[in-house]
Amino acid sequence: MMRPTSRRSFLQFLGGASALSLTGPACTSLLSHVKHKSFKALRPLSPQRQDKVILAEGFESEILISEGAPLGRGLFFGANNDFTQFVSRKNSDTAFLWVNNEYFSSVLVSGRNRSDIPSRAQYLKERETVGGSLLTLQKNAQGKWKFVGPHSDNKRLSGSSQIPFTAPIAGETYGIGSFGNCSGGLTPWNTILTCEENYESYYGEWFPTKDGQGKIVPDKYPYNWSKISALDPRHYGWVVEFDPETGNSKKLLGLGRYAHECAKVVQTKNNKLVVYSGDDRDDHCLYKFIPDRPDSLDTGELFVANLEQQKWISLDIDKQPLLKKNFKDQTDVLVQCRRAAFLLGGTPLARPEDIEQDPISKDIFIALTNNKPKGDYHGSILKISEAHNDHTSLTFKSEVFRAGGEESGFSSPDNMAFDQNGNLWLTCDISGSAMGKAPYEAFGNNGLYVIPRLGPQAGKTIQIASAPNDAEFTGPCFSPDYKTLFLSVQHPGEMSRKGQPYTSHWPHGSPHKPLSSVLTITGPSLENLTL
Ligand code: FEO
Ligand code: CA
Ligand code: CA
Repeated sequence: MMRPTSRRSFLQFLGGASALSLTGPACTSLLSHVKHKSFKALRPLSPQRQDKVILAEGFESEILISEGAPLGRGLFFGANNDFTQFVSRKNSDTAFLWVNNEYFSSVLVSGRNRSDIPSRAQYLKERETVGGSLLTLQKNAQGKWKFVGPHSDNKRLSGSSQIPFTAPIAGETYGIGSFGNCSGGLTPWNTILTCEENYESYYGEWFPTKDGQGKIVPDKYPYNWSKISALDPRHYGWVVEFDPETGNSKKLLGLGRYAHECAKVVQTKNNKLVVYSGDDRDDHCLYKFIPDRPDSLDTGELFVANLEQQKWISLDIDKQPLLKKNFKDQTDVLVQCRRAAFLLGGTPLARPEDIEQDPISKDIFIALTNNKPKGDYHGSILKISEAHNDHTSLTFKSEVFRAGGEESGFSSPDNMAFDQNGNLWLTCDISGSAMGKAPYEAFGNNGLYVIPRLGPQAGKTIQIASAPNDAEFTGPCFSPDYKTLFLSVQHPGEMSRKGQPYTSHWPHGSPHKPLSSVLTITGPSLENLTL
């Protein structure tokens, strides 16, 4: 269902920076920062259909790393990079950039169509392309962040990593591998949250049966890995916490099991944490997790959003008789989180993807990408204002911040990032098979956009970059000084088929095969908005 743009919501967004509606020290410092600034108008990029990264005037980009680059110790940078997260390091002139490696093109990685059964060698190779990569960065003499190349501090999480669970699953204490790592988050103690999204493609999905054994059903569009190694699908669909300094990781059961897009950690006024996450699937739910402690996500209470009643519903088996009747224990609830959520009235949404917090109003923004079976082709951005601006609150107000479409200038919003001035940056995910076709012709290739909060273009959608053929920009992340925007170029040429010409040759041009890569974006137009 197409929803209208909410003018009230947008005026509140602008009002957030006009000093009319804000209180609190954080807001005051942000406002004093932006109120003296004069933003210049940017010349927006028009939609493009070229096999290139094209940038608006005053922006520059360089490739930080491409798929397959060596990291050292036999490790290499994985495929289809998504979420990026900059992590500062104590007592070091280096920094880390975590990059999710969400999935892979079987044609480009191992020369097979996805529906083919892989050989064991192909399976083992493919497993190493997914998960995530930890890159060591250093600034060069010109002040630009660069990947240092093979280095003992670089690390990988992959489809073969042994990862413990925070509680046993059917007697198992660890699983093999992480994949489908789409977006993620950062904890206040500088560990990475990397989210397992489309996990069913790899080893299928587990469903309960009356005999208690359960059954495994293959995905509609499988990689067929289970033909080589039949691992338990219940081990996937979690949020994984990864420590960049030690390389230790664990799967956080408390946040539930579903197609996690991201895990946005928010610190509340009273020194508590809340983690927001969405289930990126048509007609699936939005969740929040309130950990028991402010320094660990190992245990806590999970809630699902009911938008009709504007409230968060607990998924704690000890508080919900309906869960007690239908599930064995809390781990069973978490493993079958979707079923528990719908049983208690979780609201189906149009593919909830990335979640960000407005640094000025503290509201929560959720990208609802689209819901094509329901005729919602362009998606929207939902805004949630927690009661009393307390993120542990169990009631909220929600409204559509901006609906996608030709009038608003973007379609199918996916990843978002706010800069320190409260400008909203977003990337869009029109699928490779739909790009350039009705009803998406007007948008061209996927893009990066900004909705400025102040200045002559406040509230307009300004296109900043256009992606190569079939690709999607993902994982926008600012450096702490806001002079660099890290941005993934994911799946250029994903429509390529075995034995046929590549549909993209980015970044090295014909006849080379396309390579997903991470960009650094800098330049005076970026600084005009972010500093
Ligand atoms: Fe991997 Fe929801 O995008
Ligand atoms: Ca995404
Ligand atoms: Ca996506």
